[in-house]
Amino acid sequence: MARTFFVGGNFKANGSLKSIETIVSNLNAAKLDPNTEVVIAPPSIFLLSTAASASNGVKVSAQNVFDKPDGAWTGELTTKMLIDHNIEWVILGHSERRTIFKESSEFIAEKTKAALDAGLKVILCIGETLQEREAGQTLNVCCEQLKAVADKINDWSNVVIAYEPVWAIGTGKVATTEQAQEAHKGIRDWLASTVSSQAAEATRILYGGSVTEKNCKELATQPDIDGFLVGGASLKPAFVDIINSKL
Ligand code: G3H
Repeated sequence: MARTFFVGGNFKANGSLKSIETIVSNLNAAKLDPNTEVVIAPPSIFLLSTAASASNGVKVSAQNVFDKPDGAWTGELTTKMLIDHNIEWVILGHSERRTIFKESSEFIAEKTKAALDAGLKVILCIGETLQEREAGQTLNVCCEQLKAVADKINDWSNVVIAYEPVWAIGTGKVATTEQAQEAHKGIRDWLASTVSSQAAEATRILYGGSVTEKNCKELATQPDIDGFLVGGASLKPAFVDIINSKL
């Protein structure tokens, strides 16, 4: 079964009503590969305006969600609120959440379970630091981050994994095609041995970290790279070229 190519745009804490309207209008007007699933993740305050204006098959994702039901959690969004507003996707486990906001793999796993239980789809981010890569720990780190989730969920059909080496995020230092393919293959092998061969075959594994319109085409040729999670370049018109990297 062929996996549908997937391109996500993570706007992080960037944008204004006007700039996001421009990005969305650009996507609405563009000729996008009909065989690629496109999901954009604006900051939470822009979720509704983005969802109301996005067309052309473009879906919207939150950048985070809390694992508890509605209640006294100042500053948080709950899964119920996202579902209530027809927001289908959420990004969890981004390295900025892990490092800056000190989110543990266990907490991310709890949030992943809560999101899936509520009916959301999850873009689950994993990845190693430069120090971990240089110590030969890339796959161990990725698999430990995945194992925390596998301890809590059985069904991976609404999970897309984003492999994002921390050293490549926002640095302009993209992983080589070989480095990315090797990590993706290792992650798929882990899914096969730990979850199931069916999950390994069906789960999309995205690459994230300094993806641009210049490097996306070559990365997209790799058998285990099923798309991208794009940060900086998703704010630019050339995001369309990344979406169309398989054309
Ligand atoms: O979620 C996206 C990643 O952090 C990649 O960001 O494309 O700006 O390196 P970047």
